[in-house]
Amino acid sequence: MKLPKASFKRRSKKGLFITLEGPEGAGKSLQTKRLVSRLKRAGYAVEQIRDPGSTQVGRALRRVLLHETTPLAPLTEALLFISGRMRLVEECVLPALEAGKIVICDRYHDSMVAYQAFGGSVPAEWLDAFGRSAIGDVMPDISFLLDLPPEVGMARLNRTKDRMENKGLNFHRKVRRGYRTLAKQNPKRICVIDAKQDVEEVAEQINANVDIILKRSADHLKR
Ligand code: TYD
Repeated sequence: MKLPKASFKRRSKKGLFITLEGPEGAGKSLQTKRLVSRLKRAGYAVEQIRDPGSTQVGRALRRVLLHETTPLAPLTEALLFISGRMRLVEECVLPALEAGKIVICDRYHDSMVAYQAFGGSVPAEWLDAFGRSAIGDVMPDISFLLDLPPEVGMARLNRTKDRMENKGLNFHRKVRRGYRTLAKQNPKRICVIDAKQDVEEVAEQINANVDIILKRSADHLKR
């Protein structure tokens, strides 16, 4: 059977697409901010986005997915996350890449495979294939997986937990296992970083890897 395919796709090698991934409390948001500031200071055109979010549809879905108390089946969640991501790719990711920008996205497709497939038991191979097809195979050039045991991550969250964070330790253990499986399956794209290290060390490792790619992609980037 043929999977439905998005009407959009990445048409050139322009731009650079970076995602940050990881379980709760891994420090993704902080590292995203730091990376964005550093690249802007270096003169690059940078687009910072998050999934779910960054578009009107994405923000509406984010409210439903993270802040409504209605229970949602993992497949329902996955389809909503995909809907938001399709808008994100069309409205934000592709135009920014086409303009030669560096797109930095806090979470993306890998989150769905880790959370809804490995955590929520939607068949992983199917969800991976369906999810990629729906976003026109617009996948990151590099993804940083900030890896952390869920016990450590959960203990770092000192605010009210959202619907996903409230799913319990067992769920989050499966999510971590999912991420590590994805990293093994995609060793060229996913770079695993030990998020137990302090913020500076994590940032240094991200920067070192990004610098290597920047050298390689210089011709495709706007400065
Ligand atoms: P967010 O606040 O963006 O991330 P964090 O909790 O790391 O600060 O929350 C997004 C939540 O949505 C997070 O719990 C992961 C989850 N998620 C999925 O379950 N599936 C997906 O496809 C995506 C993109 C996120």
